[in-house]
Amino acid sequence: MKLLVIGGGGREHALAWKLAQSARVKAVFVAPGNGGTARDKRYRNVAFESNEALADLAQNEGIAFTVVGPEVPLASGVVDVFRARGLRIFGPTQNAAQLESSKDFAKAFMTRHGIPTARHQTFTDPLAARAYVQQRGAPIVIKADGLAAGKGVVVAMTVEEAMAGLDSMQIGNSASDGATKLVIEDFLDGEEASFIVMCDGANVLTLATSQDHKRLLDADRGPNTGGMGAYSPAPVVTPTMHARVLREIIMPTIVGMAADGIPYSGFLYAGLMIDGEGGINALEFNCRMGDPETQPIMLRLKTDLVTLIDAAIDGRLDQVEAKWDRRAALGVVIAAYGYPSHPRTGDAITRLPDDDDDCIAFHAGTAASNNRLVTSGGRVLCVTALGETVRAAQKRAYRAVDEVAFDGLQFRRDIGHRALKIKR
Ligand code: AMP
Ligand code: GLY
Repeated sequence: MKLLVIGGGGREHALAWKLAQSARVKAVFVAPGNGGTARDKRYRNVAFESNEALADLAQNEGIAFTVVGPEVPLASGVVDVFRARGLRIFGPTQNAAQLESSKDFAKAFMTRHGIPTARHQTFTDPLAARAYVQQRGAPIVIKADGLAAGKGVVVAMTVEEAMAGLDSMQIGNSASDGATKLVIEDFLDGEEASFIVMCDGANVLTLATSQDHKRLLDADRGPNTGGMGAYSPAPVVTPTMHARVLREIIMPTIVGMAADGIPYSGFLYAGLMIDGEGGINALEFNCRMGDPETQPIMLRLKTDLVTLIDAAIDGRLDQVEAKWDRRAALGVVIAAYGYPSHPRTGDAITRLPDDDDDCIAFHAGTAASNNRLVTSGGRVLCVTALGETVRAAQKRAYRAVDEVAFDGLQFRRDIGHRALKIKR
């Protein structure tokens, strides 16, 4: 069979890599793909201009099913377009994707269905928003309503910072790209974890736990990024915690969406905050897998991903099981010079490690240009390795990281540090 993966980052490279391993798969089309998928015969990169064009491609090539990586095509309704043409696709509809594309929708949904989350209020009037910040005090968190590629959240430790955050978001000023709605919510303290599941509208299949590192620099300093590295499993999610997240957050979400008439199918990513007393709150939902969490998760998945996604599209997720490598996996993101604010592109990648069974350099912001591989985005590679322990996976990954060469590269030296601190 032929499959299609929509997207071109490290997450999509890892999904395509896993799908291509299935004995049933002849080719994996990746739209648009990246320099890594361009140079490997298992994949075929395709350019496209619209959701309709992707559906045309799926129809013309006889694609057995499509998997959507990023949130933007989901929020623009790619799943609705495919389904209207009877094409098999795994992902939430535009309505269901509001769990990610509208913070206001997600918060109202969680409040309505009793899903634990920070207390919030939504504002369209800048004066009312300022008054609320004055009244609640700091620390406080301000979130732009729409998709903002990780840039729509200000975690303000002081009222002054919060006011500056409000100004920068230019509420109500849609003419200047400002947010038309803002969510202001209480600050939650604790440790963050990602919890990712597959859903088919009614049933849930949990994926291996993972944790990413959002800050640019070692010791969790510097600006927020899309994620500088991740590992799986995440020891912060103990078996008890795992059961509680399913019971308190994931299942009420799936049941609630179905009850509201917008059944959720696709990957669902809950961003959690786990506090010192064991309280769990949902910080956010993403309607997709995490990047870079996907890379270590795919390296540990032993079950054929084609079987799992087929079952999910058919509403049979209760009949399949995912088997995981007991080893740990850890991925280190190598970013371009200037990332995250102004990533430089066009640097020649002169050296890459050889991939093997235990260690793979998944590509993200890379492009093939005149037989050379050059950087083309902020996050360039995610070097991901397996090991008996998190420490062993870390060692293996960093050995390969040291073999990567391009001008201005940056990466963290401490991916996995939280897992190494937890004694088990
Ligand atoms: P979000 O896109 O909603 O996940 O927010 C991005 C990041 O902001 C999260 O990964 C957290 O690090 C932080 N954050 C979001 N909401 C809160 C909150 N209520 N309390 C503390 N930190 C938060
Ligand atoms: N790594 C965080 C995300 O994909 O949203």
